[in-house]
Amino acid sequence: MLAGKIALITGAGSGIGRAACQILSREGAQIIAADQNESNAAQTIELLSGSHHLSVSMDVSNSSTISQALSSIQSDVSAPPNVLVNCAGITRDEFFLKMSEKQFQEVFDVNLKGTFLVSQAVCRNLVEAKLSGSIINIASIVGRTGNMGQANYAATKAGVEAFTKSVAQELAGFSIRVNTIIPGFIDTPMTSTVPDKVKQKFQHLIPLKRFGKPEEIAEVISFLASDRSSYVTGTSILVTGGLAT
Ligand SMILES: NC(=O)c1ccc[n+]([C@@H]2O[C@H](COP(=O)([O-])OP(=O)(O)OC[C@H]3O[C@@H](n4cnc5c(N)ncnc54)[C@H](O)[C@@H]3O)[C@@H](O)[C@H]2O)c1
Repeated sequence: MLAGKIALITGAGSGIGRAACQILSREGAQIIAADQNESNAAQTIELLSGSHHLSVSMDVSNSSTISQALSSIQSDVSAPPNVLVNCAGITRDEFFLKMSEKQFQEVFDVNLKGTFLVSQAVCRNLVEAKLSGSIINIASIVGRTGNMGQANYAATKAGVEAFTKSVAQELAGFSIRVNTIIPGFIDTPMTSTVPDKVKQKFQHLIPLKRFGKPEEIAEVISFLASDRSSYVTGTSILVTGGLAT
C-alpha cells in the first residue's frame, strides 16, 4: 500500500510514533524515525525489517535541529519525504490556576509550534521538487472536549486541528493532502502515569470499554499516508473507541 513512499515520523521513539513506523514499513514505506531521544528512535529502526530505514535526532520545537535533520536525510535518501506524521507530543499537566508559564509554553512549543515547523520544512521541499505528499497530524479528543488539568495540552491539540484545516486549503493546489487524526485514550508511555482510578473512569465512558492500542492509530495513519485516501484532505478522523465529542 505504501511502496515508493518515504515517511518521516516524529516522536518515533515511543508509543504511537513507534507503532506508525512499524505499520508503515510493513506496508512498504521507507521510514525515517525522528525523535529528540535519538537512541529510542534508533531502537525503533531495529524493530523494522530492511536496511533502508534510518533514524535522526530532531527536536521539533527547534527549527535548526529540523534543518540539520532534513539535510542529513537528503544525503542518505533519494528524494524528500512525501509522508510526514507529526506525532511528537508532550503533556505538562497542572490545574489552570497553578499552571506556570513554562508548563504552558513547553507544551505549545512541541505540540503546536513543532507541528508547524516540521510541516513547513517538509512541504517547502515537496513544493520545490514538485512532488505530491500527505501530512498527518496527531491531535487529541481532549482538544475537542477539554480535560481537567490539561488547559495547555487541550489548547494545542485544538490548534493542531485548526492549523491542519487551513494548511490543507493552501496546499491542495500542490497535491499535498493534510489531515488530522484525533485519538481517544491510547495505551502508551504518555498515559502510563494516569492513576488507575482515573483510567477506570475514562474506560467506563468509552463505548468499546477499553483504551486503544498504538497500532490502532497507526492503521489509520497508514490509510491517510496511502493513495487510497487520495480524495481526503482537510479533515479529522476520530479514533476513540466510540467516544464522541
Ligand atoms: N496516548 C494517548 O492517549 C494520546 C491520545 C491523544 C493524542 N496523543 C498524541 O499522540 C502523539 C504520540 O503520543 P504517545 O502517546 O505515543 O506519547 P509517547 O510519550 O509515548 O511518545 C512521544 C514521543 O515524542 C517524543 N518527543 C517529545 N518531545 C519531542 C520533541 N521536542 N521533539 C521530538 N520528539 C519529541 C518523545 O521522545 C517520545 O518518543 C502525541 O502528539 C500525543 O499528544 C496521545
